[in-house]
Amino acid sequence: MSHSGKKTTEADRSLDPADWGAFRQTAHALLDDCIDYMETLPDRRAWTPVPDAVKARLTGPAPGPGRPLDGVVADFKEMILPHATGNGHPRFFGWVHGTGNPAGMLAELCAATMNSNCGGRDHGAVYVERQVIEWARGIFGFPEGASGILTGGTSSATLLALSAARVGKVGAGLRKAGMEQGPQLVAYASAEAHSANTKALEIMGVGANWLRPVPVDANHALVPERLRAMVQEDLAAGRQPFCAIATVGTVNTAGGDDVNAVADICAEFDLWLHVDGAFGAWARLADDPWRAYTNGIERADSLAFDFHKWMYVQYDVGCVLFRDEAVHRAAFAARPDYLAATTRGVSGGEPWYCDYGLDLSRGFRALKVWFTINHYGTDELGRKVSDNCRQAARLADLVTGDPDLELMTPAGLNICCFRYVGQGGLDDAALDALNAAIVLQVQEEGFAVPSSTRIGGRYAIRVAITNHRTRLSDMDLFRDRVVQVGRELEGRS
Ligand SMILES: Cc1ncc(COP(=O)(O)O)c(C=O)c1O
Repeated sequence: MSHSGKKTTEADRSLDPADWGAFRQTAHALLDDCIDYMETLPDRRAWTPVPDAVKARLTGPAPGPGRPLDGVVADFKEMILPHATGNGHPRFFGWVHGTGNPAGMLAELCAATMNSNCGGRDHGAVYVERQVIEWARGIFGFPEGASGILTGGTSSATLLALSAARVGKVGAGLRKAGMEQGPQLVAYASAEAHSANTKALEIMGVGANWLRPVPVDANHALVPERLRAMVQEDLAAGRQPFCAIATVGTVNTAGGDDVNAVADICAEFDLWLHVDGAFGAWARLADDPWRAYTNGIERADSLAFDFHKWMYVQYDVGCVLFRDEAVHRAAFAARPDYLAATTRGVSGGEPWYCDYGLDLSRGFRALKVWFTINHYGTDELGRKVSDNCRQAARLADLVTGDPDLELMTPAGLNICCFRYVGQGGLDDAALDALNAAIVLQVQEEGFAVPSSTRIGGRYAIRVAITNHRTRLSDMDLFRDRVVQVGRELEGRS
């Protein structure tokens, strides 16, 4: 007998339910459960650890015989749903986690219903992706005719961008011949740049050593003069500088490089300008002074950013835009006989996204972006981005005004880094340990989820807000709880 209780003759062996009515009931009830979950997120714990008993149940071999869907759904509701990361909660501030949104949830259901393969061909989903790319092109001020593609995130967008940068500066011949000859390629990014850039160069075979870390100033922004000097040094040594990366919204502190200054140096030395705007690019929709972080972004040869962070779209969906579609295609286009295009039929619909990236099979990521932007509009989404910046600034003010706390760097965009110092007398090592304990305690008690980093070598509590449910009052609550936990751990309360 099959999962649906019917005989497994070939004729009956479709995976569709034997009883669509029963399936409908299960599905409707589950949708209600999911909506209930989302509606009550603010009242839940920010994070609930996965109990050992659940971990144990989530092991073992794949089942031979299936079981009724109701049982699978019940397991999901009992074991999995309550143990989400917590990034829908208003006080989830860790790493750079987006919240998702209700419209995006529905879009995921619709995309799964269509089960589109967006590598190519002529069907509705690819036109949605084109519209989303076109929206992004307009928002970020790229020229008409610029191209782009949705990706799993900024990490994969970066790999595509830097691969195309190399083709743009060395030539598409390297796709066949590889990089055996020629001078060593060199790329540049600030010392604060994200490890995704390093990883891309590692995968490309350029090597992490050839991503030069450019020193930063007191605002954690790349120093353009140092970049120029480093390029000149590499040229003098016979190497081939090919790409400079500017970051808008650095991962540690949400600082921003002066993109125009980096663009000028790229123009001077014929370098590809890549902008890592993973979350910070969306400051483009915010009020000033935050919007100004994105000045010059429109001069980039490529721009990588996510919708799943600051556009609050469900994971996963990132994007990369290219100024020059010809270079973009030169880096990735490949159409063997079995993928031949036609001007009619399903194999029409040129251009195909498989010619713009790595993946031939690609899901319908665009739909959740399309639902989100259509439903909320860029005006409202921009207001939310500004709100998050205001909240980070508020937390910085609260920290500055609290003798138990120390602001570790001025709040940039949506990130505030600080530490608990208490009444003084603890050395840096002791403060590092104490602050790490505070972070873990507030996470484990389910009150809030900050993450951590190091600023100038010292442990910092890091609050990054890409959360449409966060309120200014959450900043006050969070400050109060950190101070309270710090005092308890210090034995002062
Ligand atoms: C500045 C920056 N670049 C790149 C990334 C990597 O993005 P993703 O997690 O979408 O791969 C991040 C992630 O936080 C980031 O903050």
